[in-house]
Amino acid sequence: MSHASRTQTVLCERGLFSKGGFQMSLILVTGGTGHLGRDIVPRLLKAGHRVRIFARAPRPEIQVEWAVGDLATGKGLRAALQGVHTVINAATDSPIARRGGVRPLDFVRSPSAVDVEGTGRLIDLCHEASVQHFLHVSIVGLEEAMLPYAKIKLAGEKLVRNSPLPWSVVRATPFYYLLEKTFAGVAPLPVWPLPRTPFNPVDTADVADYLVRCAFDGARGERAEIGGPDDLSCIEFARQYQKARHLRRAIVPLSEHLGRRMGFIGGNGVRGTLSWAEWLDRGAAAAVAA
Ligand SMILES: NC(=O)c1ccc[n+]([C@@H]2O[C@H](COP(=O)([O-])OP(=O)(O)OC[C@H]3O[C@@H](n4cnc5c(N)ncnc54)[C@H](OP(=O)(O)O)[C@@H]3O)[C@@H](O)[C@H]2O)c1
Repeated sequence: MSHASRTQTVLCERGLFSKGGFQMSLILVTGGTGHLGRDIVPRLLKAGHRVRIFARAPRPEIQVEWAVGDLATGKGLRAALQGVHTVINAATDSPIARRGGVRPLDFVRSPSAVDVEGTGRLIDLCHEASVQHFLHVSIVGLEEAMLPYAKIKLAGEKLVRNSPLPWSVVRATPFYYLLEKTFAGVAPLPVWPLPRTPFNPVDTADVADYLVRCAFDGARGERAEIGGPDDLSCIEFARQYQKARHLRRAIVPLSEHLGRRMGFIGGNGVRGTLSWAEWLDRGAAAAVAA
């Protein structure tokens, strides 16, 4: 067999080309309009893949195929899966991430319609549509975290693990954008109560690079988790944030245990390369340029 046809065979097996010829197969990204999804989509396009985003409303600035629907109701899902080889499931309904801070209600409940029922619905229809790879995005340390959102994410993840699909689960540590939103949310307070817990938050661009590798490396199942390059306490991340944003606030240390229960949990495995300090510098530079 020639080198070219051997390469084509391998790529066919990994779903990159159709068997009939050199035509790229289709990748559906749920959550393609979210923080992580917006980093995944351009990487897929740059690598030459055909991309379809499943979302509640299309965004004209993102030039891809759009499948409009709703994971919470199942509307539009079956049509969205037509001809799809790989699904990257990066959709979530997280009130904490949306507003960037924890409220008392977040200790009581979190919506499940997208992350549990929606994931279940998506799995069933992917099975029906013979999807070849279901790559599910999840969070490091879900077993230890006690917030209802973590329980919801764990329930969704279990559906994936127990499904008949060829699946992969990638767990990531908290994203920098969420850490920034959290600190910005407490910025008006003179004193910040923060846990001593060490962890390694990560940039969505680093997670997207890793996910795109995982989507096409031919492997399936539990993948190495991904976190950022710095192992620091939440307090140290806050100090760097204050320095970068020219703030001076007192910090009251809370216990490491409480921090882990809140989801400040580090990842062992793959490491992103962009540090928190670099990410903050970029944000400051972008704000000056805007
Ligand atoms: N944020 C973190 O710190 C963190 C850390 C580790 C892992 N993760 C995981 O990474 C993934 C992406 O997180 P993210 O922070 O990027 O999320 P995000 O910015 O909050 O984006 C959520 C996405 O889900 C979509 N979505 C929400 N409800 C939907 C519905 N009913 N039907 C269809 N789509 C819906 C949103 O689309 P529209 O709003 O445009 O409809 C959006 O694209 C999630 O699985 C999350 O659990 C997040």
